[in-house]
Amino acid sequence: MFKLHGRKGCRCCGFGAPKTPPGIKAPANADKLIPVFSLGLQPLSNAFAKDDELQSAHYPLEVLFCPKCTLAQLSIVVPPEILYTNYTYTTSRSATMQRHFESLLSFIRSEQEPKSVIEIGSNDGYFLEYLKSQGAEHVCGIDPSENLSEIARKNLIQTICGVFDKETAHLAADCVPVPDVIVARHVFGHVDDLKDFVKTLDSISGNHTLILIEVPWAKRLLERCEFDTIYFEHLSYFTIKSIASLLDGTPFRIHKIHEFPVHGGALGIMLRRRDYESTPHASVQNMISQEGISKMDWELMGECSSRVVEKLVSLVRTAKAAGKTVAGYGASAKMTVLMNACKFTRKEIAFVTDTTPMKQGCCIPGTDISVVDPGMLLRELPDYTILGAWNFSTEILEKESLYRTKGGVFVNPHENAL
Ligand code: TMP
Repeated sequence: MFKLHGRKGCRCCGFGAPKTPPGIKAPANADKLIPVFSLGLQPLSNAFAKDDELQSAHYPLEVLFCPKCTLAQLSIVVPPEILYTNYTYTTSRSATMQRHFESLLSFIRSEQEPKSVIEIGSNDGYFLEYLKSQGAEHVCGIDPSENLSEIARKNLIQTICGVFDKETAHLAADCVPVPDVIVARHVFGHVDDLKDFVKTLDSISGNHTLILIEVPWAKRLLERCEFDTIYFEHLSYFTIKSIASLLDGTPFRIHKIHEFPVHGGALGIMLRRRDYESTPHASVQNMISQEGISKMDWELMGECSSRVVEKLVSLVRTAKAAGKTVAGYGASAKMTVLMNACKFTRKEIAFVTDTTPMKQGCCIPGTDISVVDPGMLLRELPDYTILGAWNFSTEILEKESLYRTKGGVFVNPHENAL
């Protein structure tokens, strides 16, 4: 079994980190992060590999809240080499992502023309390919997944394979010295030692370098009860306040913020050096003042998630009792969380479709439910289909209009039947 560890204290502001030397018991009144949400024992959400140990491993999925800076973080850390070496998550080449990339580029251009770009967590190179097509001249990606780095290289995107650390950062900086822009989309949430990450950013950025990070916004997760976005890859659930705390004492500050509708509500946060000649944009103060998240928001979300699970279980049970069939659409990590939280097996869910060839032929982790090609939807015409990729629902509903014409019903777990 893999060696897990828990981070002692908040990874943004340090609250709850032990103040006594190792081996000496902390006083009873010492600061502690507060447990606010738990999904019990869960499998690794993207463990689609046909590997028994990976498939069957279960770990406690528990969220701790920092009352000082409002960051929420998982109580344990699964080592990145387990999660990412042969990673099945590829950035969806979908119309939704294409539109998002267009909006991101306009956001970047509102500050800086991206002629030279380093992307951290570049996945299969899709975003860098897009930036190149829009005029970027020098680009380099860094990604820990060997299989995805290889795909990126085949598509002529220079990629350093490895986690973002001093070594990979400097290899990337050899290819693209002092870049105009450093992008880290949906990477911060996966990083255990964020302070070290920011130090490394410092070592490869110049005075003019704009740093753009994209993170899901905990405010939306809580409001919309998106509990299925909580899984082992996502170590942290950010607020703007927590990111501002992380940057305290570093050369960077938050410069500008924009909210994007992707992945259930994400923030594009631009960082600039504190000594860069310009004042922070008004969006920073505006958005911080809207935030106000407390431990109670997390507790309420926990209650709401139980209702979502009960409603889905009841819908599936009623359908099965009436002799109907139920399937799933999109073997996303969210689908793994949902299927396991509902304790569904293939007796309830006939199959889950997914466009990713690496996932097809595997089972949803922790279950015996098979992942199949998307053509199965029209071949089998299940009466109900649960959307695991609900973040792409508009596009999927349009694409699969024939299924609905033939009487099929999509179910968004967070809303009603569609
Ligand atoms: P994500 O929500 O984490 O990006 O994962 C979405 C999953 O859904 C991914 O495995 C690809 C899959 N998918 C489909 O099967 N069909 C689609 O039309 C879309 C947009 C995604």
